[in-house]
Amino acid sequence: MKYRYLGRSGLLVSRICLGTMTFGNKEWGCDQSASTAIVDAFIDAGGNFIDTADLYSGGVSEEMLGRALVGKKRDDLVIATKCWFPTGDTPNARGLSRKHIFEAVDASLKRMGLDYVDLYQIHGPDPYTPIAETMKALADLVRTGRVRYVGCSNLYGWQIVQANMTADAIGGERFISAQHLYNLVRRDIEREILPACDDQGMGMICWSPLASGLLTGKYRGQSEPDPQSRHGKNAKAYLSRYWWDEALKLVDTVVEVADELGKSPTQVALAWLLGDDRVTAPIVGARSVDQITDSLGAGDFDLAPEARDRLTEAMPLQLGYPKEWMEGTFPGTFTHAEVEPRHAQRLP
Ligand SMILES: NC(=O)c1ccc[n+]([C@@H]2O[C@H](COP(=O)([O-])OP(=O)(O)OC[C@H]3O[C@@H](n4cnc5c(N)ncnc54)[C@H](OP(=O)(O)O)[C@@H]3O)[C@@H](O)[C@H]2O)c1
Repeated sequence: MKYRYLGRSGLLVSRICLGTMTFGNKEWGCDQSASTAIVDAFIDAGGNFIDTADLYSGGVSEEMLGRALVGKKRDDLVIATKCWFPTGDTPNARGLSRKHIFEAVDASLKRMGLDYVDLYQIHGPDPYTPIAETMKALADLVRTGRVRYVGCSNLYGWQIVQANMTADAIGGERFISAQHLYNLVRRDIEREILPACDDQGMGMICWSPLASGLLTGKYRGQSEPDPQSRHGKNAKAYLSRYWWDEALKLVDTVVEVADELGKSPTQVALAWLLGDDRVTAPIVGARSVDQITDSLGAGDFDLAPEARDRLTEAMPLQLGYPKEWMEGTFPGTFTHAEVEPRHAQRLP
C-alpha cells in the first residue's frame, strides 16, 4: 500500500480509502459480519483511511464500523464522517447550522464508539446558513478535540474557495479535502472543482470511483441493468448518470487495457484516478472481502502514461469555455518566462 498526504496537510492516508455506504444497507449492502471482515481485510493490507456518514443506512453504517473497529489500534486509523442530510423530522435536524453540526458530530461519535474523528466533512452546501457560522462551528469542533481536520463534499469550486477564505478571515480551519463524484465515466470535476482544490491545497477523495460497479465490467453485454443488481435497484439515479452508449463502450476499453496488463478492470479504473496527482484517494465501496481485495490491488499499482492516455482519450471530456478561450489567447500572452515560476497556478 502506498500513502499520500491529504492535500497540503501533514496527514498521511492510504491511497485506497474504504467507503462504508454498503454497511447495513439492506438492498445492496452487507451485514455486520461481512462489514467486519471487509474492515479487517482492508487494515491487514495496510489501509488506514475509512469514510462513513451519518446518512448511510440511517446511522447503521457508523454503528457497524464502530463494532468492526473494536480491538483495532484506533490512533493508527484515519476515520472520516460527514453531516448535512436530515437526521430527523424536526426543523434543525439537517444542514450546516452550528446547532446541527455540534449535535451531528456527537451523535456520530456515539454511534462509532469513538472520542474523535480525524476528518469531519460537510456533505453538501447549505444555502440558508451563513458560511461563517459553519466554518466557525467546524473550527470549534477542532478546538474541542472532537475533530482533527475538516473537509467538504459536493461543493462548487467557488463555494470551496469562499469557505476557505472565510475560515482565514475568522481564524478558522480550512478544508484539507473535497469528496466528489469522479470516475472514468463522470469527469465533470475536471472543469472547475479539481483546479479549485488544487489551488487551495486540498486533496480530492473521489466517491463512486468504480461508477458503483459499472467499471468492474460486471454489467457488460447489458443494455439496461438487471433489476436485482445495485444499478437496477438504483436505476432512477444511475441510468441517467451512467447508462449511455459512449460510457458502455468506455467500459470495454477498460476491460481491454486490464486484459493486456494482466490486471482487473477495477484496478485499472482506480489506477487511472490515482494517475492524477490532484487525487489523493478513491473511496471504494465493497460488500465482500473479495471485492475489497480486488480494489486493494490498486494500492501500489501505477498505470504507464500510454495506458492512462488511452483511457483518458477513450471518451474525451470537452472542457468548454473558458478553456477554449485560454488555448487561443494564453500562449501568445504569457511568453516571457524562461522557467515556469513555482507560484504559477495550474489551470485546467
Ligand atoms: N459524498 C457523497 O455524496 C458520496 C456519495 C456516494 C458515495 N460516497 C462514498 O463513496 C463510497 C463508494 O461509493 P460507491 O459504493 O458508489 O463506490 P464504487 O467503489 O464505485 O462502487 C462500489 C460497488 O461496486 C461493486 N464492486 C466493488 N468492487 C467490485 C469487484 N471487485 N467486482 C465486482 N463488483 C464490485 C459493489 O457493488 P455490487 O456488488 O452491488 O455490484 C460495490 O458496492 C461510499 O461507500 C461512500 O463512502 C460518497
